[in-house]
Amino acid sequence: MSDPQREREVRELTDQELKKAREQRVFVLNPACPEPFLIQKAAQVIRDGGTVVFPTETVYGLGANGLDPRACEKIYKAKGRPSDNPLILHIAEPAHIEKLGRDLSDNVEKMAKAFWPGPLTMVVKKKDIIPKEATGGLDTVAVRCPVHPVAHQLIKASGLPVAAPSANLSGSPSPTKGEHVLSDLSGRVDLIITADASEIGVESTVVDMTGEVPVILRPGRITREDIEKAVGACRVSEAVTSMSEPAHPASPGMKYTHYSPGAEVVLLEAGDSLEKIERDRRAHPDAVYAVMGAESYQERFKGETFYSLGNDPKEFENRLFSSLRALDEDGITRAAVILPEDTDQTLASRDRLMHAAGYAYL
Ligand code: TXA
Ligand code: MG
Repeated sequence: MSDPQREREVRELTDQELKKAREQRVFVLNPACPEPFLIQKAAQVIRDGGTVVFPTETVYGLGANGLDPRACEKIYKAKGRPSDNPLILHIAEPAHIEKLGRDLSDNVEKMAKAFWPGPLTMVVKKKDIIPKEATGGLDTVAVRCPVHPVAHQLIKASGLPVAAPSANLSGSPSPTKGEHVLSDLSGRVDLIITADASEIGVESTVVDMTGEVPVILRPGRITREDIEKAVGACRVSEAVTSMSEPAHPASPGMKYTHYSPGAEVVLLEAGDSLEKIERDRRAHPDAVYAVMGAESYQERFKGETFYSLGNDPKEFENRLFSSLRALDEDGITRAAVILPEDTDQTLASRDRLMHAAGYAYL
């Protein structure tokens, strides 16, 4: 669960920040065909060492010059993020990974060919030009080449690798709409670009490419089966597949409570008796209670506050973070979430929900 005290500290703005929030520069760009003039202005902010929020196909990112230690520090400060949680460097062309990584295996090339530009992040050994501030002191670097036209044009125009974590306050659900970043980061960054809602809605698949076999550290839209088709073998880290809190997190970022709304979230497996939900509600008579799950459960919970996560795994993924945020916007204090059945396609949603719930099951 997130620490409410810390959340308050992160959210509290100084007078100066409040003034900045009111004056926040926001560019609203055409997602398919971003205005070149505004892209140039935003790229200049990055080149000058500033911070820019921008849309990607997965979630919104909070970007800065990935080669500039001070710019990277600004990202950590804006998010309230622990400094040992490394950033992803975003590139405009797949071939640019060679400028950042060393000892790249043939598999890296195959993966880039199969999935870039797109929602894949590869962890490789880093070159010395990357400052320790970008990688949390690690000897490896995470690299991604996004496909969203605004992200692509911005990175290209900046001429730099753009370090960008998800553009949420540390600990809260990742932002998939412009309004989410405005509510989390207004006054904390130099420029916010909004465009469309994120097409995918969960963060990229993070894959460790430093060993013989690729290892998924964070599941996403690109699944183990997808990767196996491209390179042969692929493993999912045990820290991801174990249904309980891992003793050893797969990647530094996975050890922090993530994706948590203010509401308490409790989980239920798809095959569990739904009566558990009624019992839980009776046990929490003072809670403002809601149920969340696939569309097919809507009828069963008619007359209740029900958040539908759609009809298939992609829709589920796409609606997940905005629905977790909606719980807080709607004043819900406790939500029972019915997990999707455990398959290759639902691993990302299950992983994010287990983090959101702090591994709490009904
Ligand atoms: O879709 C995405 O990946 C979004 C968009 C903005 O591109 N970015 C994103 O970044 O989700 P962030 O910082 O929220 O998550 C990065 C994840 C963290 O779990 C972090 O620990 C892991 O990648 N990571 C970064 N560098 C790593 C490294 N060198 N070794 C292992 N894990 C790493
Ligand atoms: Mg994040």
